Amino acid sequence: MIRIEIKKGPMEGQVFEFEGHDIFLFGRDEQHCHASIQEDPFVSRHHFLMEVNPPFSRLCDLGSRNGTFVNGKKHGGRVTFAKLESEGKVGPPVVDLCHGDVITAGKTVFQIFLEQKKPVTATMVFDRFPEDESDSPEPTGDIRRTITELPPPDLSQNIGRQTIQEIDEIAQVAGRATMVEGSGSGAFGSQVGQTGTTDQVASERRPGEFPVLDGYKFQEFLGAGGIGEVYLAHRSIDNSPVAVKFLRSRISVTRQARTDFLKGKSISGRLRHRNIVQSYGAGIVGNEFYFINEYCDGGPLAKLFRERKSNIQAKHIAVSLYLLLDGLAFAHEKGLVHRDLKPSNLLAAKRNNRWIPKISDFGLNKDFEKAGFSGLTTTGTNSGSLPYMPREVLTDYKYVNPASDVFSLAASFYRMITGRYPRGDQKGSDSLALILNGEVQPLRNHFPGFHSGLADVLDTSLQTECCERYPNAREMQNALRVVMNKEGWL
Ligand SMILES: Nc1ncnc2c1ncn2[C@@H]1O[C@H](COP(=O)(O)OP(=O)(O)OP(=O)(O)O)[C@@H](O)[C@H]1O
Ligand SMILES: [Mg+2]
Repeated sequence: MIRIEIKKGPMEGQVFEFEGHDIFLFGRDEQHCHASIQEDPFVSRHHFLMEVNPPFSRLCDLGSRNGTFVNGKKHGGRVTFAKLESEGKVGPPVVDLCHGDVITAGKTVFQIFLEQKKPVTATMVFDRFPEDESDSPEPTGDIRRTITELPPPDLSQNIGRQTIQEIDEIAQVAGRATMVEGSGSGAFGSQVGQTGTTDQVASERRPGEFPVLDGYKFQEFLGAGGIGEVYLAHRSIDNSPVAVKFLRSRISVTRQARTDFLKGKSISGRLRHRNIVQSYGAGIVGNEFYFINEYCDGGPLAKLFRERKSNIQAKHIAVSLYLLLDGLAFAHEKGLVHRDLKPSNLLAAKRNNRWIPKISDFGLNKDFEKAGFSGLTTTGTNSGSLPYMPREVLTDYKYVNPASDVFSLAASFYRMITGRYPRGDQKGSDSLALILNGEVQPLRNHFPGFHSGLADVLDTSLQTECCERYPNAREMQNALRVVMNKEGWL
C-alpha cells in the first residue's frame, strides 16, 4: 500500500491511501484535482500528478509555474527549464519516488510511505488456462464501472450471429513451457515483490532471440509496445498461425495474483466477435505472461490506410469505423470496457479476400496494470496511449466507462485521417498536461474537405466532457449509421 500524508500547509493532516493502481492530481483546479488548494498562489491549476501502483510510484510535474520539489530538489516548472536541467539545477519533470520522500508544492508538504501489507512469494507452478468461474460476482447490470469490477458476461449469448469459429480453440494452452525468468527490482530499492524462493534463475531473451513455448514454432517478431512483445508463431499441431504476446511482470507474481488475473482474462477471452481479435488462451512462465491470439495478417489498420493513401475515401473510413464499433458495442453490452484503444490496437485480417478490421488487446494492458504487474505506464516515457486518452482517465481513474472508449476510438480515427492528434502534438511529460488542459480541434480544421457528417460524428465523440459524447459504442454506431444511410454506404 502507498500512503501520502500531508505534513504541512492548509490541508495538513490529510492522508490518501492507495492499494492499487491510481492517479493522484494536485493543483488549484477544485473540480478535477484529488487534493486542491485555492489560497496558495504558488500552486498551479494542475501542479503535479502522481501515478501509484504499489510498490511503485512516480511524480510528474505538469509544467507548473514554480516546479515541484522532491527532497529539496526542484523538478519541472516552466521557463528555461531545458537550460536549467542541462546545468543540473533542476531535475527532470518525471521522478520515481522512494519510501520517505518529501514533496513540496507551494506551501504544501507531502510525504510518501510504502507499507508492505502481506509477504509476496514467487511461484513457479505452470497451469492451464482456468475454466472455473464459479466464484465470480453476480451480474448487477451496471456497466459504468471498470472491467475487473464487472460481472462476467452472459456466456450463453456469446454464440450466434456475431461469432466466428475460423480457428479452433486451443485446448492445451500452457503445455510445458521452457522459458523462465526472475523478478525485477522495485522502485523503492527494497526487496518488495521479490523473494529468494524462486526455483529457477532468470534468463532474459537476448535481442533477436525467439521465445520457446512447447507446441508453437516462433517465426517472426511482429512488434513491441509499451509493456510487451508480440511474435508470429505457428501451432505445431496444425500449423495454424497465431500471434503470441508476452508481458513481463515487474513484480514477482503470487499464485493468487496469477490465478485472479488469468481468470479475468478467461472472461474477456471468451468475447467472440468478428471485429475483436480472438483470444485463444493465456499462461505464465516465471514472471512472464503469454497470450495466444488470433493472428491479423494485415497488421495495424493505419498501415493499410497509409499504403492506400491515394484512394482513401470517407466511405472506407466509415465502413471500418462502423465494423469496429460493432465489435466494441458487443463488448460494451457485455459490461467490458477496453480502456486502451489506439491505432496500434486496431488491426486488420484478410478473410475471403476482404480486410476485416479488428480490435486487439481487449482490456489486456489495463488489467495487467491494475493487477500491479506492469508498474507505472501512464507516466512512462514510452506510453503511446496518451494522445488517445480521455481526460477522465487522469481525473477519475477508477471511473472509466464506455464513453472513454468512444473518445479513444474517435481519437485513433482522427489520427489516421488527419495525421494529427486531436489535442495537438506535444511530446513527453507535456502530453499529460495536454490531456488535462488541451482543447480538441474540430477535425475539419485540419482537413477542410473531409466528409462533414463523418467529421461531426468524430467531433461529438471527442468532447472533453464525458457526458457530451455518445455514451457507448452502440450510440456512436447509430449516429454513424444515419450518415452512412444518407450516402448509401450501408
Ligand atoms: N494479433 C496480432 N496480429 C498481428 N500483429 C499483431 C497482433 N497483435 C499485435 N501485433 C503487432 O505487434 C505490435 C505490438 O503490439 P503490442 O500490443 O505489444 O503493442 P502496442 O499495441 O503498440 O502497445 P500496447 O503494449 O500498449 O498494446 C503491434 O503494433 C502490431 O503490429
Ligand atoms: Mg497492442
